[in-house]
Amino acid sequence: MNSDHLSADISEVLLDEDSIHARLAEVAAEVDRDYAGRDLLLVGVLKGAVVVMADFIRHLNSHVTMDWMAISSYGSGTKSSGVVRILKDVDIDLTDKDVLIVEDILDTGLTLSWLMENLRSRGPASVEVFTFLRKPEAVQVELEPKYVGFDIPNEFVVGYGLDYAEQYRNMRQVGVLRPSVYGR
Ligand code: PRP
Repeated sequence: MNSDHLSADISEVLLDEDSIHARLAEVAAEVDRDYAGRDLLLVGVLKGAVVVMADFIRHLNSHVTMDWMAISSYGSGTKSSGVVRILKDVDIDLTDKDVLIVEDILDTGLTLSWLMENLRSRGPASVEVFTFLRKPEAVQVELEPKYVGFDIPNEFVVGYGLDYAEQYRNMRQVGVLRPSVYGR
């Protein structure tokens, strides 16, 4: 049963607000440097990446554009299958753009690996990934994101955009969800 207070459903806070913002500032400084003078397009993947994108772009000092995709993974239950359907595509033409995909989490990596291949087929100058979180123990594909916010253990995490049953996205920290909440 969910409690009224988000934090009561969390067994451990993995990342607090200060660490998140300090890390976003570091990554943003790297991106500013790496893409200086280039035509950078940030592509966020709905819905999890909304929170990290909103904070991340405000740490950047360069001119950037932003667009969004919504994709749905055909899978059994909560597991990614790598078979992906585009529900909402980007509005901006990717030709000759330096594309940086912004994701909340790289779990198995199947979603991102499909997405990179799909975007690369559209004639961009480059396609790279910034994933806020990565679970190194869960990754099933060879995929090296250019930027990783934090490596985390293979736990059920929520908050800062990440959901359980569409809830907890508005929590300011990243925390481990108590198993009692999802019935284990
Ligand atoms: C999450 C996350 C990635 C994907 C990662 O999306 O945002 O897109 O799963 O999993 P993978 O590495 O195993 O492929 P989800 O389908 O939960 O949608 P959401 O962003 O709307 O929460």
